[in-house]
Amino acid sequence: MILKAIKKIPGVLLVLTFLLTIIILPSWAAPEKIIVGTSADWPPFEWVDSNNNFVGFDMDLLKVIAKSNGYDVEILDIGFDSLIPALQSGKVDLLAAGMTLTEERAAVADASNTYWSGNQGVLVREDSELNIATALSGGNSIGAQRGTTQADWLEDNLVQKGVNVKSLELYETNDLGIMDLVNKRIEVFVADTPAAEAFEKTNPIKIVGTINTEEQYVFYVQKGDPKGILPMVNEGLTRIQMSSIWNNLVNAYFIGDLTKISDCYAKFGSLLDEDVEAFAKNLAQCMMSQ
Ligand code: ARG
Repeated sequence: MILKAIKKIPGVLLVLTFLLTIIILPSWAAPEKIIVGTSADWPPFEWVDSNNNFVGFDMDLLKVIAKSNGYDVEILDIGFDSLIPALQSGKVDLLAAGMTLTEERAAVADASNTYWSGNQGVLVREDSELNIATALSGGNSIGAQRGTTQADWLEDNLVQKGVNVKSLELYETNDLGIMDLVNKRIEVFVADTPAAEAFEKTNPIKIVGTINTEEQYVFYVQKGDPKGILPMVNEGLTRIQMSSIWNNLVNAYFIGDLTKISDCYAKFGSLLDEDVEAFAKNLAQCMMSQ
C-alpha cells in the first residue's frame, strides 16, 4: 500500500521532501546555542580545570542562565584583548570575563547589570621588601594583562605621568605574568583583587596593597543586542540573586578551596543539565568540605 502510494508521488517531489528534511531538521533538533567568549586565566571567575572544563563564577552564572532558558553554551577561550573585537565581528554572542564596565567598552558593546565589583591588587614576590608605594614608583618592571583596566591604569597613572617605572610588561594571559613575577623577570604584577587573592593562594607571592578603582563587572553583548539575549541575562541574574544559587556559587568560588574544583566538577557538573539549584548546592558543599 505505502509503496504503491510512494510510487505515485513524482520523483522530483520525493527528492525535494528529502532535501527539505535534511536542511530543516538539524535546526529544529539542535537547541539554540549561545557562544560565550572568555579569557580563562582568571580564577575564581574563569579558568580551565584538569579535566578541561571551563569552571568559575562567571562560567557557572552563564551556564545556569542559559540552561534555565533552554540554551546550550559554547565557550571560546580568547586572549583578553581580542574579546571585544570577537564580539563586534559576531564570532561570539556574549563576553563573560570579569569585565569592568568602562565608557570605551560601553560605546561599542551593550553591558548587562553589574554582578560583582572589585579593586586592583598589587602583587609582589613573597620575600619582597616592596610596599605599595615603592612597588609602583621604585623603578620596577610592572606587569598586567594586555587590554585590561589595570594595564590602562598603569599606563595613565604611572607611565604617562613620568613616575619612576622601569618598564610596563603586558601579557596575553595572567598566568604568564604571574609566572614572570615568580621567576623574577618582573617585580610587580597587578590584577583585580578577587583574582589577585586567588593567585596569592597558589603561588609564592603576596598582595602588598590595593588600588581603589571600584570596578563594576558586567557581561557584554553586541551593541544593540541583535540576538535579543540581554533581557534574558539580566532577568537570569536577578532570579539567581534571589535564589539559593547565588549564595552557593559565592560560597563555592569565593570561600571554597579552588584546588578542589576538578574533583567537585567531575562529581556534580552533570547536574547542570538536570537541576541547576542542586548543582550549585552540591558544588558549594564539595568546595567547602574539609
Ligand atoms: N576587570 C579587568 C578588566 O575588565 C580585568 C579582567 C580580566 N579578566 C580575565 N578573564 N582575564 O579589564
